[in-house]
Amino acid sequence: MNTAIEPIVVIRPMQSADVEHIILIEREIFLFPWSPRNFADSIDSGYYCQVLAQEEAILGYGIVMMSPEEAHVLTLGISMAWQKKGLGKKMLLHLIAHAREQHAKSIFLDVRESNHSAARLYMQMGFKQIATRKGYYPAMCGREDARVMQLML
Ligand SMILES: CC(C)(COP(=O)(O)OP(=O)(O)OC[C@H]1O[C@@H](n2cnc3c(N)ncnc32)[C@H](O)[C@@H]1OP(=O)(O)O)[C@@H](O)C(=O)NCCC(=O)NCCS
Repeated sequence: MNTAIEPIVVIRPMQSADVEHIILIEREIFLFPWSPRNFADSIDSGYYCQVLAQEEAILGYGIVMMSPEEAHVLTLGISMAWQKKGLGKKMLLHLIAHAREQHAKSIFLDVRESNHSAARLYMQMGFKQIATRKGYYPAMCGREDARVMQLML
C-alpha cells in the first residue's frame, strides 16, 4: 500500500515574489510569453491574480480583470508537468466563481485558433464562441486569429 501523502494544491493570491517562478512556467508553455512586467502590472492594477500552489511550488496561475458587468480572463497557465490533471479546470472554476461573486453578467476570454486543448476546456465549462479577432496574435509565420469566447453567468 502506498502511504505517501501528497501535499494539497491550494489556490491563493499571486504575490510579487511569485513572479520569478511564474515567468519560468510562462516561458515553458507559451510561444509568446508575457514579461515579468505584465504580471507585476496585473498585480499592481488590482486584477484578480491567483496561483495554484503546492507548499512552496507554483503549479499554475490565472488572472481575471473585472469591469462593472463583465469579467475577462487575461491568462491561464499550468506548468507542463502538471497539465492534464484537472488543475486548469480547478483554476478556471475558481475564476468563474469569483466573477459571479462580483456580480459579473458574463465572462470573456480570447484563445488562439490553434489552441484546441484550451478551447476544449472552455467549451466543457460552457463557453461559446461569439466572434473572431482576425490576426490578433503574433505567430511563427505572420499572425493568428483569436476566438472570442463568452460564458453567461
Ligand atoms: C489549457 C490548460 C490551461 C488546461 O489545463 P490542464 O490542467 O492541462 O487541463 P485539465 O486537466 O483541467 O483538463 C480540463 C479539460 O481541458 C481539456 N484538455 C486539457 N488538456 C487537453 C489536451 N492536451 N488535449 C485535449 N483536451 C485537453 C479537456 O477537455 C479536459 O477535460 P477532460 O480531462 O475531461 O477531457 C493547460 O493545458 C495550459 O496551461 N496550456 C498552455 C497554456 C495555454 O494554452 N493557456 C490557455 C491560453 S487561452
